[in-house]
Amino acid sequence: MKSIKDINFAGRKVLLRVDFNVPMNDQKQITDDTRIRESMPTIEKLLADGAAVIIMAHFGRPKKGGFEAEFTLQPVAKYLETIVGRPVHFTQALLGSGEVEQMAQNLKGGEVMLMENIRFYPEETKGDVQFAERLSKLGDCYVNDAFGAAHREHCSTAVVARFFPNDKYFGFLMENEVRNLEKLMHDAPRPFTAIIGGSKVSSKIGILENLIDKVDNMIIIGGMRYTFTKAMGGKIGNSICEDDKMDLALDLMRRMKEKGVKYYLPVDSVIGDKFGNDANTQIVASGEVPDGWESMDCGPESCKAIHDIIMQSKTILWNGPAGVFELETFAKGTKAIAQSVAESCKQGCFAAVGGGDSVAAVKQMGLADQMSYVSTGGGAMLEYLEGKVLPGIKAVQE
Ligand code: 3PG
Repeated sequence: MKSIKDINFAGRKVLLRVDFNVPMNDQKQITDDTRIRESMPTIEKLLADGAAVIIMAHFGRPKKGGFEAEFTLQPVAKYLETIVGRPVHFTQALLGSGEVEQMAQNLKGGEVMLMENIRFYPEETKGDVQFAERLSKLGDCYVNDAFGAAHREHCSTAVVARFFPNDKYFGFLMENEVRNLEKLMHDAPRPFTAIIGGSKVSSKIGILENLIDKVDNMIIIGGMRYTFTKAMGGKIGNSICEDDKMDLALDLMRRMKEKGVKYYLPVDSVIGDKFGNDANTQIVASGEVPDGWESMDCGPESCKAIHDIIMQSKTILWNGPAGVFELETFAKGTKAIAQSVAESCKQGCFAAVGGGDSVAAVKQMGLADQMSYVSTGGGAMLEYLEGKVLPGIKAVQE
């Protein structure tokens, strides 16, 4: 891995790509700064070496081309100043105005600048080579720390690396993500248990298929499990289901059996008569959900069985909640899993957590620090676990 660790960047002008695509509330306050904090070791190392650091980042998905106030990185620049403890040079001007070019040129060692949202340039997402070349002119080497955007073959995440054939590196965040994911995929201590949830089978097919060859246990939770239950002839009431994926669910179960993967589907369910915290609830057997009711979480028996599997595992990958985690009434299953995984880590299990809701769950419960590794990537982690080569990683490695 081409790490920044062994390089001294003194006197260098570093073009650094990070993923600062952080959640913000209506007042433009950052509500979860994990991605910014996780890139700090890289930024601090470069600054401590005496490099001038030019940061490229995206925020949201602006489509118009050009500046859009809704997607400005200004709040991030302000926030970054408070963490980095020195001024962050920032302008809302775009390349071509001369202002950005000048700012980059004047930037001294130990100084940091954040460019405005890189997606304000339509060329960025098209991977336009000429635009990538323009970006490359701003620095004299390239560091990619944007794991969350590594599945995008954009100018700043991948194409620009071409212009630094001998001077491109992974930042610490990226290095850490890749090391942990490699361990999961190729060097996982056994037994290896995958806990896969989320609402749709269709969004997790790739990961389920890729994991069949790697894991010992597969726990299928979340909304996607009802497609499996219905495919096996169970009654699921109004629970979500992809009817056109029932054959696939049966096929996946057949293949898991063939490969000796033990799969587990929750045996009991918390059902509600409406989607809301004030729903009437009952606990029923998973294949016996009455009409008019919807299953929205796994029940206590399932939580216990899942706990036992988790505690016998040496490696855990958890992606996707057990139920409708955003509603307190249906959050118990997800919380129980978070607690079980944290407990298994105390016993030396290697546990990786990824995906919006499961990460939100461990953070909300204050358990993130107890996990072996919490990924900063949503789509990027998913694609990696599907066995895909991520353009942002390949561009630095080749
Ligand atoms: C993310 O939030 O998952 C990354 O920043 C990538 O964002 P994108 O899906 O808009 O490319």
